[in-house]
Amino acid sequence: MTALTPVLSRFWDEEEPWSLETYRRHDGYRALDKALAMPPDDVIALVKDSGLRGRGGAGFPTGTKWSFIPQDPAGSTPPAGAKPHYLVVNADESEPGTCKDIPLMLTTPHFLVEGAIIAAYAIRASHAFIYLRGEVIPVLRRLQAAVAEAYAAGYLGRDIGGSGFDLELIVHAGAGAYICGEETALLDSLEGRRGQPRLRPPFPAVAGLYACPTVVNNVESIASVPPVVLGGVDWFKSMGSEKSPGFTLYSLSGHVTTPGQYEAPLGITLRELLSYAGGVRAGHELKFWTPGGSSTPLLTAEHLDIPLDYEGVAGAGSMLGTKALQIFDETTCVVRAVARWTDFYAHESCGKCTPCREGTYWLKQIYHRLENGQGTAEDLGKLLDISDIVLGKSFCALGDGAAMPIQSSLKYFRAEYEAHLNGGCPFDPHASMLVAPEEVDA
Ligand SMILES: Cc1cc2nc3c(=O)[nH]c(=O)nc-3n(C[C@H](O)[C@H](O)[C@H](O)COP(=O)(O)O)c2cc1C
Ligand code: SF4
Repeated sequence: MTALTPVLSRFWDEEEPWSLETYRRHDGYRALDKALAMPPDDVIALVKDSGLRGRGGAGFPTGTKWSFIPQDPAGSTPPAGAKPHYLVVNADESEPGTCKDIPLMLTTPHFLVEGAIIAAYAIRASHAFIYLRGEVIPVLRRLQAAVAEAYAAGYLGRDIGGSGFDLELIVHAGAGAYICGEETALLDSLEGRRGQPRLRPPFPAVAGLYACPTVVNNVESIASVPPVVLGGVDWFKSMGSEKSPGFTLYSLSGHVTTPGQYEAPLGITLRELLSYAGGVRAGHELKFWTPGGSSTPLLTAEHLDIPLDYEGVAGAGSMLGTKALQIFDETTCVVRAVARWTDFYAHESCGKCTPCREGTYWLKQIYHRLENGQGTAEDLGKLLDISDIVLGKSFCALGDGAAMPIQSSLKYFRAEYEAHLNGGCPFDPHASMLVAPEEVDA
């Protein structure tokens, strides 16, 4: 059986794991010393060679992303007239089921702070931002305290460690919109505008924050950088699979005996993770699950043994996404679960493009009809037709995320949808008392 590999979570249960003192006791800021002694390009090469892939959902190689930033020949300060570079950490984590970045920042925020300093040094940025989901006030305070500790210790500010490298790190609280996790909407929001996705190209590496070269990386991606730099390429590659190396946080939630974060090599299976988590709750069996949050096509018990890496999950017709493994047992109505996600996407659609704005609205109406026993056989066809119009034809991936759970749930559980056509939800004895769609809208 694949062993767990706690790295980022290895001292979460110590007293005050968030303090600089505790972090230093666990090699904290040693990777920064190592990185500052290297030319920035070598830091990029190291991260590239490690094969670290972005943990924000798409799995894009982190070092490759950094290498897209126009590199100046020497020093951390761009030549006169050149545009400044920015590092932006995406800490907006808002997808249903996704819950790794918030515990990571709450428990060991210095992994993120140290990683941000190393990343900024590598891409020659003198300003970095952490864009945090605004509702999580305790995390905001914890991050601000960690940043203040790092300034006081000389890890931030001017001439860090006598290297000549200067960095200001700003923690910015958003206002709580799922779309502001989409990297270009995030940049608009950070600039003070309404968060809506931008047309690409130009990509952020060319014209990002304030139209300057910008790297946007997920919290876990950046927090993984200090262990990668300190442990080295071979150590990192000794975990995980060839194309998806390393350790990562898998978040198990729902009908599981011991929900929580399980840090393991990429490629572990859900069956193995469930055995660490005490299995599906006692007396029940797995019905369906999401590999990477509510926007990834759902899977079933037949997929318990697929490797949970980017290639393995894609091979099963889904996506690894944020590794948010939501477990649903046989007591769950799949139509109801997907209906709640559809409500979420309709609410969070930013309205910029027609397929998503209109499509999510109409999908939501159909789900409420199905739950109320007012659905028709025609509605099932409409769910597929509208999902098809939204998927791949929307301006950003929020639309795809809305469509995919609908299509996959119909693929695996069509009979359950059909059962809703005869008087509402067969799982709910009070189905006829559910609210009507117009009441929901009001
Ligand atoms: C609707 C939507 C919401 C997103 N939310 C997040 C988020 O909260 N955190 C995140 O890191 N990436 C999120 N992403 C993905 C980002 O656009 C981007 O790919 C990611 O921050 C890149 O970081 P990485 O390369 O380190 O994975 C979201 C994408 C979409 C379409
Ligand atoms: S897909 Fe949805 S969230 Fe994305 S731009 Fe279009 S309306 Fe906005």
